[in-house]
Amino acid sequence: VELRDAVCLVTGASSGIGRATALELARAGARVVLLGRDRARLERAAAEVGGRALVADLARAAEAARAAAAAAEPFGPVDVLVNNAGIGLAGPFAAAGPRRLEELVAVNLLAPLLLTRALLPGMLERGRGHVVNVASVAGHVGVRGEAAYAATKGGLVVFTESLQQELAGTPVGVSLVSPGAIATPFFERRGSPYGRSRPRPLPPERVAEAIAGAIARERASVFVPRWLSGPARLHGALPGLYRRLAERLG
Ligand SMILES: NC(=O)c1ccc[n+]([C@@H]2O[C@H](COP(=O)([O-])OP(=O)(O)OC[C@H]3O[C@@H](n4cnc5c(N)ncnc54)[C@H](OP(=O)(O)O)[C@@H]3O)[C@@H](O)[C@H]2O)c1
Repeated sequence: VELRDAVCLVTGASSGIGRATALELARAGARVVLLGRDRARLERAAAEVGGRALVADLARAAEAARAAAAAAEPFGPVDVLVNNAGIGLAGPFAAAGPRRLEELVAVNLLAPLLLTRALLPGMLERGRGHVVNVASVAGHVGVRGEAAYAATKGGLVVFTESLQQELAGTPVGVSLVSPGAIATPFFERRGSPYGRSRPRPLPPERVAEAIAGAIARERASVFVPRWLSGPARLHGALPGLYRRLAERLG
């Protein structure tokens, strides 16, 4: 998809990676619909990018369907869907609250499925479209203390890969973007700070550039930073060795 004049729906655009992505796509000439729950922050971000705010709570399946329909109102049918909205959860799995687990699956996994399901037929019909799913390196390798979060992101990873196989040869592209630690309010909002000294969190603009690049250059999978594809590859090729290293090095 050529980004100039493309209609892009970015979820989770009131903050962090989504906000930076809305800015990056607008800079490339796209018309951006910014989705989130916080109306004030969303409208501020929309004003900055000359886009439109769309308030919806993706934890509710019915709102995801409504949002997919409403996204076409300001500028016309959606050409690019960036499934970025997400929440974290850290701590021992045995202590995770059932409600929070439901919310995690609803926002991080079910909402991207529902939004893609709602918008994909139109993209196929018009012969033009791109879906970007923002997963996490956690979804490739698993992370101690983040089992539920990693499970939702792992689901998004295989959803993306399956959809890529299914849509090969169609005019709709699908990209997976897998960030490592990024400096956004994500950690504070999940209620537990980023606890490692390395790798140092990167600015969200780095992910935004990767997302815009993945759309423009039809990239199947991008890690931010790029070296994080190393652990993911090691995990895929030698899972036993990866497990031993993860146990030893954390
Ligand atoms: N930061 C990292 O280190 C990191 C690493 C790997 C992957 N990621 C992924 O990157 C994505 C963006 O995260 P971020 O770091 O930019 O975090 P963030 O600054 O906390 O932003 C999260 C965004 O998701 C939206 N959101 C949360 N719950 C929602 C709901 N129920 N309905 C609609 N929107 C909702 C928030 O909007 P409202 O507050 O307006 O609802 C916000 O705009 C997430 O999928 C996250 O898992 C982040």
